[in-house]
Amino acid sequence: MTLTGRSRLAGVLGWPVAHSRSPRLHGYWLAQHGIDGAYVPLPTAPEDVVDGVRALPRLGFMGANVTVPHKQGVLAACDRLDDHARRLGAVNTLVFDGPTVEGRNTDGVGFLNNLRQGAPDWDPTAGPAVVLGAGGAARAVVVALSDAGVPAIRIANRTRDKADALARALDGPVTATDWDAKDAALDGANLLVNTTSLGMTGHGPLPIDLTALPGTALVNDIVYQPLETDLLARARARGNPVVDGIGMLLHQAVPGFAAWFGVRPEVTEALRDFVLQD
Ligand code: ATR
Repeated sequence: MTLTGRSRLAGVLGWPVAHSRSPRLHGYWLAQHGIDGAYVPLPTAPEDVVDGVRALPRLGFMGANVTVPHKQGVLAACDRLDDHARRLGAVNTLVFDGPTVEGRNTDGVGFLNNLRQGAPDWDPTAGPAVVLGAGGAARAVVVALSDAGVPAIRIANRTRDKADALARALDGPVTATDWDAKDAALDGANLLVNTTSLGMTGHGPLPIDLTALPGTALVNDIVYQPLETDLLARARARGNPVVDGIGMLLHQAVPGFAAWFGVRPEVTEALRDFVLQD
């Protein structure tokens, strides 16, 4: 749609940001709903991010997404935080109310809604979850699973200290295990999630033996390049239900779009296909 003087503006702050699929994703919804608005890449160096965020509402922006490496850096520019951003210590969505900057975090909601849409019969309360990795993405995943009623969450990370720190920081049924113990940790699990970069194009494969994983356990990889990671292919081959990672990106974007543009958009197969095309 042609922009006018009344166009609503949003964007994504990252450094670099050229790889981001968010402009394509939000652009699809803007076109679908015929909205007079634009969602643009906002390449912002770390030393400029606080001033940059502060300037956006003054330039008429409705809000923005925040991606690597700024999810913690923008905290200093926020006047208030929602509960998720406060608990995660990270922001992925900014909503402006006049000059006031609110930081939100929708990564956990995006993760859970992806599982709900991809595996509607999966019950989070039915058994333990194993989470591989202990970085920022793992933190959002573990908090979301704990909130959803998962009875036990086992975190395995290459650097054991980080898994211990995450388990300690979160008020929930969370335990840490050694990276070498991850195969055994699959025993009796109802969910396996990979939040590490292993399996991503250009990174090594994820070394895991799925023998102990029950055949009914759901397997999810938040890596989506490639969409079908080696982990998902191996899980699918042994009959486990699987959900790929692109849906987390799509679902985490919904609340921001709704806040900025006034329409709650849908995550559909057509959207998935569109965002995955280069
Ligand atoms: P994100 O914010 O996306 O979670 P991150 O904070 O850099 O990114 O975390 C990356 C995760 O992948 C970490 O858990 C990391 O393990 P370490 O804490 O030991 O660094 C994990 N990871 C990256 N490369 C790995 C590898 N070669 N083997 C095992 N784990 C790896």
